[in-house]
Formats: sequence, structure tokens, C-alpha cells
Amino acid sequence: MHTTEELQQKISDLFDTLNYMSEPQELYEPIQYSLSQGGKRLRPLLSFMACSLYGGKIEEVTNAAIGLEIFHNFTLLHDDIMDKSPLRRGMPSVYKKWDLNTAILSGDTMFVVAYEYVTNTKAEYLVDTLKVFNATAREVCEGQQYDMNFETQKITTIDNYMEMIRLKTAVLIAAALKIGAISANASKEEQQRIYDFGILIGLAFQLRDDYLDAFGDQVVFGKPIGNDIVTNKKTYLYLRAYELADAQKTIMLNEAFNINDSSKKVKEVLGIYNELNIRTETENIITKLYDESFDLLQNVDRPEEEKAAFYSFLKKLIKREV
Ligand code: IPE
Ligand code: IPE
Ligand code: MG
Ligand code: MG
Ligand code: MG
Repeated sequence: MHTTEELQQKISDLFDTLNYMSEPQELYEPIQYSLSQGGKRLRPLLSFMACSLYGGKIEEVTNAAIGLEIFHNFTLLHDDIMDKSPLRRGMPSVYKKWDLNTAILSGDTMFVVAYEYVTNTKAEYLVDTLKVFNATAREVCEGQQYDMNFETQKITTIDNYMEMIRLKTAVLIAAALKIGAISANASKEEQQRIYDFGILIGLAFQLRDDYLDAFGDQVVFGKPIGNDIVTNKKTYLYLRAYELADAQKTIMLNEAFNINDSSKKVKEVLGIYNELNIRTETENIITKLYDESFDLLQNVDRPEEEKAAFYSFLKKLIKREV
């Protein structure tokens, strides 16, 4: 067994030693920039943790774990273009620091580099790992498309929102866990169990991200506060606000979302969110999802002491500010 801190250190060391630079440097420099910024590196950590939980050797999942993190970073390059978001991890987004074409092409290259790492998985686990990776990559694109479709729709249901975030975010977190389980030779049943657990924490994670986009501290969060409001994202906050609003508040919300000046729009919308208690509403659903994930973890067929790392990690994730 490894402690979570040991695994995090290992991942950090791994990424410090990787060198993506090559020619033409205009293509590779943004890749180096994105991957050396760090971020939480949650996905490789979860692969390592799941592998370790099921008694595997983390060396068996290292290539896939690196591939998943590079894939994640690729999605961020394109996501920032789609979301018109100028800031990532407290630094200019790739399309801002360079330009659109650079972010598109360096992103495409990262997708290939991610595959190269995943493909280096030991033959024994390769087919299963690739199947999960492929299905997941496609689903992330589907989720991202729903996210964009919703931008131009006035409203959608909370169920549709949950399905959208399952696709754009939760499946990758679940896949990271499942791939860890595969590399440890866990049974199909356990692979599915840890995947389902991953979906729940993935949903909670995206809800928390939406929460922080409205109520977080920009310096800590590293992304522009209010960007979801500016871009008319159909977040839980938005949908719940419309659910709770009476006729008068609905008119106020409509007016606020029609304001052209971005900072005024954010200020007005946040004002109404506060009046409707959206902060607590969102916290409640996040807590509910994490509680459900705790329940699922209890069913995981591993000794309690092996699961302890997951329980304490979850407690930290619940409080995430970044
Ligand atoms: C950001 O993911 C995109 C979402 C799915 C919310 P992270 O919050 O894991 O980003 P980094 O890698 O830690 O910066
Ligand atoms: C992230 O959703 C989903 C993917 C990148 C696939 P967001 O658009 O909310 O992520 P951030 O807030 O930009 O990190
Ligand atoms: Mg975004
Ligand atoms: Mg997005
Ligand atoms: Mg976000």
C-alpha cells in the first residue's frame, strides 16, 4: 500500500521528468506549458489509488495514468476556446497566450500523445484499457457538445444537466479508477463498482466546479469567476435558480442574463442567486452525491484498511477550493 501523498509525489516526479519538446517548437511549447502547470492531477492519482486498492503494482498503470492526464489537459485546451475562458490555473489559457490555431493543433497533438502513453500499457491489460479509454473519449466529446447546445437554450432539466456532466466530466474520473482496477486484475464486478463510485464523485466534482465558478476565489480557483454566467452555461446553479424563482424573480433573472456588460451581468446574477440561497442548494446536492459515493465504497470488496486512503481522500475532495 502507498499513501496518497506518496502517490501524489510520484505523479509530480513523473511529470517533472517528461519532456514534450520537439520540432516544430510552436506545436510543442504549448504542450509543455500546459502539462508543466500541474493542476491537481486527480485522474492519474485515482488510477494509482484504484490499482493499489486492488492489490496491483502501480507500475502497471503508470503509462495509462499519464495518458489520461494528458488527455484531460488536451480537453482543457479546447474547452477554454469553446468557453471563451482566458485563464487556466492562474495563467493565460493556451489560446490566449498563443492563438486559436495553436490551441487547436497542440490540443490535437496531445490527444495523440495521450494515446501513445495508453498504448504502452502491458499487453495483458491493453485491450480492456483501450476500450475504456476510447468509449470515455467519445463520451467526453458528447458531453461537451451538450454543454454547448445548452448555452443557446433558455432552459433544460436538471436531469439533462446531470447527464451532460456525467459525460463531460464524470466518465473520465470513473475511467481513471476502472483502468486502475483493470491493471490490478480486479474482477469485472469490482471494475464496475469502482467505476460507478467514480461517476458519483465525478458528478459531485463538476457540481463543485460550477459552484466555485460562481462563489470561489479567483486567485485560488485559477479560473475567471463568473465565466459560466457570462457564457450562459446551464449549470445546476442556473437551473435551480429558475426552479426556485417566483414570477418576479424569474423576470429579474431574465433581465440579468440579458445584460451585455459582463461584470454587471455577473454581479446581478450572483445577487439573485444569493437571494435564492443557491449556494446552500448546491452544497446540499454535492453532499448528497458524496454521501452516496461513501455508500458505494462500503460495498467495495476490499479490506477496510485498504479503503482508508479513499475515505480520507474523499473528505478532502468534498472541501475542494481549487
Ligand atoms: C477541470 O478539471 C475541468 C473539470 C472537469 C471541472 P480539474 O479541476 O481536474 O483541473 P486541473 O487539472 O486540476 O487544473
Ligand atoms: C469541463 O467543464 C469539462 C471538460 C473540460 C471536458 P468546465 O468547462 O466547467 O471546466 P473548466 O471550469 O473550464 O475547468
Ligand atoms: Mg471551461
Ligand atoms: Mg466547458
Ligand atoms: Mg467550470
